[in-house]
Amino acid sequence: MPTQHINGESFHVTTRGEGDPLLLVHGFPLNHSMWNSQIDHFSSRYRIIAPDLRGFGSSVVTTGTVTMEQHADDLAGLLDELGVDQPVIFCGLSMGGYIAWQFWHKYRDRVSALILCDTRAVADTEQARQGRLEMAQRVVRDGAEFVAEAMLPKLVGPDAVNAQPAVVEAIRQMILTTDPETIAAAQRGMAQRPDVTSELNEITAKTLVLVGTFDEISRVDEMRQIADAIPNSRFAEIPAAGHMAPMENAAAVNASIDKFLRELKT
Ligand code: MLT
Repeated sequence: MPTQHINGESFHVTTRGEGDPLLLVHGFPLNHSMWNSQIDHFSSRYRIIAPDLRGFGSSVVTTGTVTMEQHADDLAGLLDELGVDQPVIFCGLSMGGYIAWQFWHKYRDRVSALILCDTRAVADTEQARQGRLEMAQRVVRDGAEFVAEAMLPKLVGPDAVNAQPAVVEAIRQMILTTDPETIAAAQRGMAQRPDVTSELNEITAKTLVLVGTFDEISRVDEMRQIADAIPNSRFAEIPAAGHMAPMENAAAVNASIDKFLRELKT
């Protein structure tokens, strides 16, 4: 059943495969289809759970402010609805990583391992916060086109437009089909997110930190620092990719995750 009712909202969730649960949490302003290559690759061995977060993709549009904690609560509710009582491998990209911090904070017993792709532990600067609030105001008035134009150059590496037009187009379509109210609600929520840097050393789960070489939003050095701060972590740099590494270089991302998951079993 692709639609689940959790915490008073209706969610679309893609589930596929059997095995240890692997929860794939998308970034902003995207949807579960950013993980298509990972769903294809891992569903022969894992139980994939790839939701459209509150308001995104085919989930019902949301308004107001959606905090990272709210998304984490939704995911816990989703696991309950799906009858997943075994701890999950939580894999999140960017906003999905911001949600991972909150999920770990509240539901660590439900996490068997963390995979943090192209994300940040720091809160926004005042300037970044203002930028989010301005986008939230404008997108409701003007629609999502300017969001796609503003974000695409930062989401992919410098060669992607020429070398990977299909990937760039898929990202553009995800942005353009995200409802403006949902974009606004997520921006307001991300603007409020806390700095979790000082909590990284309390993460006891085995963790993979991976980042595209050309990521301009969560840079390689910053992600290496995250990996250094998490006691039981591995770090992987993904060549020929920017912020959207799982789409831009799916083969390398899947190989890194495969290696990490093999280590988990030993
Ligand atoms: C994302 O990919 O989820 C966004 O870049 C996160 C953000 O806007 O900070």
